[in-house]
Amino acid sequence: MTLGLERLPELKSARRPLLFVNASQVVTCRGPGRARRGPEMRDAGTETGVAVAVAGDTIAAVGPPDALERAYPKAKMVDCGGRLLTPGLVDSHTHAIFGKPRFEEQELRASGLDYMEIARRGGGIHSSVRDLRGRSETELLDLAVPRLQRLAAHGVTTVEVKSGYGLTPEDELKSLRVIRLLAERLPIRLVPTWLGAHEIPLEYRDAPSGRSEYVRLLVSTMLPGVASAGLARFADVFCEPGVFTVDEARTILTAARAAGLGLKLHADELRASGGAELAAEIGATSADHLAAISDTGIRVLAASDTVATLLPGTMMFLGKDRQAPARALVDAGAAVALATDFNPGTSPTTNFPLILALGVSQLRLSVAEALIAATVNGAAAIGLADRVGQITPGFSADLALFDAADARELPYWYGERLCVATWVRGRPCHPVDGRADRGTTDRNTVTL
Ligand code: NIG
Ligand code: FE
Repeated sequence: MTLGLERLPELKSARRPLLFVNASQVVTCRGPGRARRGPEMRDAGTETGVAVAVAGDTIAAVGPPDALERAYPKAKMVDCGGRLLTPGLVDSHTHAIFGKPRFEEQELRASGLDYMEIARRGGGIHSSVRDLRGRSETELLDLAVPRLQRLAAHGVTTVEVKSGYGLTPEDELKSLRVIRLLAERLPIRLVPTWLGAHEIPLEYRDAPSGRSEYVRLLVSTMLPGVASAGLARFADVFCEPGVFTVDEARTILTAARAAGLGLKLHADELRASGGAELAAEIGATSADHLAAISDTGIRVLAASDTVATLLPGTMMFLGKDRQAPARALVDAGAAVALATDFNPGTSPTTNFPLILALGVSQLRLSVAEALIAATVNGAAAIGLADRVGQITPGFSADLALFDAADARELPYWYGERLCVATWVRGRPCHPVDGRADRGTTDRNTVTL
C-alpha cells in the first residue's frame, strides 16, 4: 500500500508525549510572544512544583504533576532529578563560521595595541577573511560542527549565525551554504544572517573609490545572490567609525529590506556614531553591541521596536573598561537581549551562561532580566518571539536542564558548565548521543 500524504500528520503525532517531572524550578518566561521591554523584563515566571508536558514539537501544558500525569497517561517521564528547567537559551548573535582562531591578537592587545589598530594593520577581521577564503565548504563545516555542539552543551537551542569572513560573493555564499548544511545536520535551530558588510576588504581599501565600489558590490551583486538563493533571513552591517559609515549602512540595509531580509546592525560598539539611531530609523529587528551608545541613542532605541542586543563578553575580552549601559536602556523602556557574539576575534566563547553572569555582574541586570534577555528577547532579536523562548503551551518544546537547584545559580557559578541536557522541538539536542531520549532506567522513564 502506498503511504498517502494524508497519513503524515498521524505518523508525526505517533511520537509519545514527554512529561518533565521533578524539576527544582521551572523558569517559564511566560507572557506575551513578543519582546519584553523595561519593567516587563522583571518577571521570568519561575515556578516550583510544576511538571511540563510536551506533545510532538510543542509545549502542551505546564501544571501540577499529578494532573498532567492523568492528562498524559502514555507519556514518557523525564526525571529532572531536582534540577533547573529553563527554555532553551537563544543566542541571537554569533559569527560561528570561521577557520583558524586568532589567539595571537590577545597578547598584542595586552601589550597596548588597540582592536581597531590591529585591523588597520591588516589583522583582525582581515586575518580571518584571508584564512576563510582558502578553505573549502567541507573544511568549514567540519570546524563549525563541534563549535555549535559546544554552544548546545551550554544550554543553547537556537543560534543566529552570521557570514562575514568571506567578503566576496563566492566566499559569502560559501559561508551561508555551510550554515544551511549545519542546519540540516544538527538538531539545534539556526538562523542565518548575511554580513557581507563586516569590513571593507583590503583589496578595496586602497583605491580612492574602493569603498563605494565595495558598497556597490554588496548591493548589486552579493545581496541579490544571497536573497535569490534563500540563504539568509537577516542582513547585518558593522557600522563603526573606520568600518562602514551610517550612510553606507543605511544604503546597504535599505536594499536588504527591499530584497526581503530582516535587518540587524553592529551599532556603536566602540565609538558612538549614530548606529542606534539608524537602527531605530530603519526599523531594524536588533541593534547590537551599543557599548558606546549616546543618550539620544538610548532614548530613540527605547521608543522603537528594535531589540538592544548586548554582548558583555566582547567588552570584557577586549579588555575595555566600558560596558553597554544596560540599566539605562532597560529603565528607559528598551527590550534588552544578551548574546555571546561568539567569534574568533573579540569573543571566543560558547559559554552562554557565562554571558548571563556578566549580564548580572557587569551590566547590573537582575537575574530575571538576564533570563528574559537570553530567551524571549533573544528570540525577538531574530524574529521568533511568538514561538521560541518560553515554556508556555503552544511554544516550541526547546528546553534546557541545568545542574542547579535555583535559577540564581545560573549566573553565579561563572565559567562552569551546568547544562545537563537540551531538547529542540521536543527532540534531544544535547548530549549528542541521544541519552536524553533513551533513558537509563526503563522504557517509561528517562533519568538524567
Ligand atoms: O561582533 N564587531 C565586529 N564583528 C565582531 C568581531 C569580529 C572579529 O574581530 O573577528 C564582533 O565583535
Ligand atoms: Fe558581532
